[in-house]
Amino acid sequence: MSGTAAAKPSKGGVDVKAALRQRAAEVEAHLADCLKDRDIPERLLASMEYSLHAGGKRLRPVLLLTFARLFAGTGTGLGKRVLPFAAALELIHTYSLIHDDLPAMDDDDLRRGKPSNHKKFDEATAILAGDGLLTEAFTLMLSCADDGAIPAERVARAARAVAVAAGAGGMVGGQALDMEYTAKQGVSFEELRGMHAMKTGALITVACVAGAVLAGAGLPDVHRAREFGAAVGQAFQIADDILDVTSDTETLGKPAGSDERQGKTTYPSLLGLDKSRRMAHERAAEAVSNLTPYTGAEADFLRALARYIVERVN
Ligand code: IPE
Ligand code: IPE
Ligand code: MG
Ligand code: MG
Ligand code: MG
Repeated sequence: MSGTAAAKPSKGGVDVKAALRQRAAEVEAHLADCLKDRDIPERLLASMEYSLHAGGKRLRPVLLLTFARLFAGTGTGLGKRVLPFAAALELIHTYSLIHDDLPAMDDDDLRRGKPSNHKKFDEATAILAGDGLLTEAFTLMLSCADDGAIPAERVARAARAVAVAAGAGGMVGGQALDMEYTAKQGVSFEELRGMHAMKTGALITVACVAGAVLAGAGLPDVHRAREFGAAVGQAFQIADDILDVTSDTETLGKPAGSDERQGKTTYPSLLGLDKSRRMAHERAAEAVSNLTPYTGAEADFLRALARYIVERVN
């Protein structure tokens, strides 16, 4: 997990960090005023915007728009029309982080290099900011069907997939298992892997799937997007667990050592660092293997991104 390696252009010639920043900036331009024309009480709006504009890698929306561009082809205009849908995933992700940091959950005081939402505001406001972001995400997603910007049937399918992935059988369920397993002895590898697949894998997977669906991809392509996302999701959370042990609070922008402090079962606690690193690399390679049929800039970026996810420093 060396940071310097990740900063250099990869074998395929992609400077992945720069490419990620550039695509993230496209999403951020959309996030900037996505809450502006709503009648949101001032303090609640301030709290929602505080976390939404605090930075972050914007990985999930970038995955969505890259898969949409991979399958729509250049010059179709679809790469821009999916931006509100992509931004919606960041609203959902940000809500999950606000709730994840609450005293009743991970009780962490720092997020994205700033005081956690409940520290900056208060617990009730943080809970409601999360609720608000989750609900507004659906307004944004469904807005993509306005005036036929994207065929309504595709928008409906993609939004439904997001609802399933974010919900009780996906991310929320995974967070519930995370709570159940905290301080519990004897959590098995299978339980840990299943919990990761739900709490982190589901949203990352649906980012890839929704991008493909919005672009009108056929079933084999959607299937490969799903497999890529599931493997990247596993790699991503293994890397997150490793960084919690090996990195520092300043680099992470969130408290290092949080997992151990709370008695969480993680990849490093169950398997050790070396095996965890090996497994993260294996999952990234598995993700890349799903992209064999694809060529061009979007596919090259996705390959580089899968590798970057296990080499990142935050
Ligand atoms: C952190 O996600 C929470 C996990 C699912 C591990 P990210 O590492 O994507 O956080 P940001 O968005 O970059 O802050
Ligand atoms: C959180 O996992 C996954 C979410 C759904 C937010 P973590 O609890 O490991 O995320 P961090 O380390 O606080 O970002
Ligand atoms: Mg957590
Ligand atoms: Mg946490
Ligand atoms: Mg973590």
